Amino acid sequence: MNEEKAIEVIDLKKIYYLDGVEIQALRGITFSVNKGEYVSVTGPSGSGKSTLMHLLGCLDKPTSGQVLINGRNTAELSDGELAAMRNKEIGFVFQAFNLLPRATALKNVELPLIYKGLPAKKRRDLALKALEEVGLKDRVYHLPSQLSGGQQQRVAIARALVTNPSIILADEPTGNLDTSAGSEILRILRDLNRKGITIVLVTHEEYVSRQAQRIIKLLDGKIISDEKIGTSIFS
Ligand SMILES: Nc1ncnc2c1ncn2[C@@H]1O[C@H](COP(=O)(O)OP(=O)(O)OP(=O)(O)O)[C@@H](O)[C@H]1O
Ligand SMILES: [Mg+2]
Repeated sequence: MNEEKAIEVIDLKKIYYLDGVEIQALRGITFSVNKGEYVSVTGPSGSGKSTLMHLLGCLDKPTSGQVLINGRNTAELSDGELAAMRNKEIGFVFQAFNLLPRATALKNVELPLIYKGLPAKKRRDLALKALEEVGLKDRVYHLPSQLSGGQQQRVAIARALVTNPSIILADEPTGNLDTSAGSEILRILRDLNRKGITIVLVTHEEYVSRQAQRIIKLLDGKIISDEKIGTSIFS
């Protein structure tokens, strides 16, 4: 089997230095994610989940090891190429929705397209389409403060989607939501995966992790298990 890889991570290590103290957040992580796969990453608080997501998303650089996104070694890209790749290939969804408080849902979703330099009309059309995709067609002029938590997270998903990324990285996207709003977010992510988008989802919650086809468990910066739901592929 030679499936194409969306993400490949090789012996990834991340050490943070804080006040002269060394914190080994990732201690040698190796795995890959095929295109179109839906993987969840779980593990206790402090096990390195968010650190891993930041490195996958090229928001931070590893201390050592490699991250390949769609076959490209991110260490070999210039800052400009990295930013372009991030903008084109990756959509982020965070636990704290990270919306601009003074901008409408529509403007928040248009934002990544402004960075891309698209004309206003095109931006608006694409943003409206993304908002429609997450079921918020009737809320486009609302400010974040005028939306429920679940709706705010759906705006954040629309913002992640609007650039048509091949990969979505979601770090505890349901962490601030009640079960019903959380289920709606998970349904949207599942639909996006069915359309072919590769998804990596970080969660504490067992039931959330079971949305994926595969669960990677971290402990103290290492992978302790990696299994397809039903069968172990950990060696
Ligand atoms: N910027 C930083 N500077 C120093 N240490 C950090 C930094 N970010 C994270 N750490 C440390 O690295 C370790 C891994 O943190 P990380 O945020 O990846 O954990 P996590 O698995 O996402 O936890 P949680 O479930 O609580 O979100 C922790 O011990 C944390 O204290
Ligand atoms: Mg975290």
